[in-house]
Amino acid sequence: MKPAFVFGTRPEIIKLAPVVRAFEERSVKPLLIHTGQHYDYEMSRVFLEELELDGIDYHLEVGSGTQAEQTGRAMIGIERVLMKEKPDVVLVQGDTNTVLAGALAGVKLKIPVAHVEAGLRSFDRTMPEEINRILTDHASEVLFPPTEEARKNLEREGVTRNVYVVGNTIVDAVLQNSKMAERKSDVLERLGLKPGEYVLVTAHRAENTDSRENLERLVGILEELPMRAVYPMHPRTRNRLKEFGLWERVGSIEKLLVTEPLGYLDFLRLEKNAFAVMTDSGGIQEESIILNVPCLTLRYNTERPETVKAGGNVLVGLEKELVLKYLKRLMEDGEFYRRMASSKNPFGDGMAGERIAGILLELYERGELRVRSSRFI
Ligand code: UD1
Ligand code: UDP
Repeated sequence: MKPAFVFGTRPEIIKLAPVVRAFEERSVKPLLIHTGQHYDYEMSRVFLEELELDGIDYHLEVGSGTQAEQTGRAMIGIERVLMKEKPDVVLVQGDTNTVLAGALAGVKLKIPVAHVEAGLRSFDRTMPEEINRILTDHASEVLFPPTEEARKNLEREGVTRNVYVVGNTIVDAVLQNSKMAERKSDVLERLGLKPGEYVLVTAHRAENTDSRENLERLVGILEELPMRAVYPMHPRTRNRLKEFGLWERVGSIEKLLVTEPLGYLDFLRLEKNAFAVMTDSGGIQEESIILNVPCLTLRYNTERPETVKAGGNVLVGLEKELVLKYLKRLMEDGEFYRRMASSKNPFGDGMAGERIAGILLELYERGELRVRSSRFI
């Protein structure tokens, strides 16, 4: 069997690496296609190196652009490779433009698409990611929702065949890498930080960074944080802060340390030792509950409601009063802190990659890995 992996951004590399590994352990060599949606060393190559995905077969160099430019360029490049290589299945993970491009290119060539992390819904169609999720799920033949809740979202939309709840591969990634992170990363020493004495911040979503008003609200929150904070900054946010004339304001916040985006081992160590996390990232909402660190999500909705229900995550939007209220409570109320930090991880046991490889190989051997004319027959 010949599986083709299509990925292009930081979280896709992190979350697909365990699936690639699971295939390799079964002596199946995957074809690796990197669209180049992310291209800076610290947004891409560092992860390929750390996670040992160094044998990329095709680099498509799609780069940045508008939604259509980026998705279109990726589709054209992916289609060319798929026509030449004729893989048996195309694997995509998550909700980026790369994912949608891979799914559309695959299904239209009648190559079955397997969607890892299927069924997530924020129920906010103004997010580019939500459109990518819905369209990718409906183009896919095999779907791997991480949780029962995600499976129910698919069922509600009539997607029920070849749907397998397998857990989220982020648990595999965290378990496979966090010991190594503790051993190899010197990020705390390098940045002069002590365990439990800082908040880890990340924010890069279009809805938080593309309007000056929202970005300024984020800056307003950072200016009033009651403890030290470290913010490994996504290039999108850095560019927008400069464009909107807010960069100097961020630089003058005494308690805040802004860094370049970090490699996975450094980031995991920083995350594991943080007092709390403040983020609009999907992957970081998941990792924080796995690592037992309270999470405040800088959004008004989430496609990871399991984390909120479990008690490890609170939606605070860009509401300064709410952020400060929760941070102060975490600092002053030990029982509340312990409750949030000990919430149960809803994303499975770290064997998702194994299950995905096993299921796809079994479907292939039974001759059932193919695009069918109808979802219902
Ligand atoms: C994309 C995903 C988002 C995901 C994020 C992961 C879509 C629609 N969005 O957002 O869901 O959470 O990746 O990090 O696919 N840039 C650089 N260097 C890079 C990459 C990007 O400077 O290596 C800058 C460019 O100015 C670019 C901007 O960041 O225009 C945005 O990049 P893009 O890939 O369009 O979206 P992300 O914000 O990274
Ligand atoms: N991450 C990282 N370095 C950073 C920021 C994030 O390694 O400086 C990792 C993080 O551990 C998580 C993933 O990148 O696994 C999340 O990616 P991102 O927030 O860019 O995307 P999202 O999950 O929101 O799509």
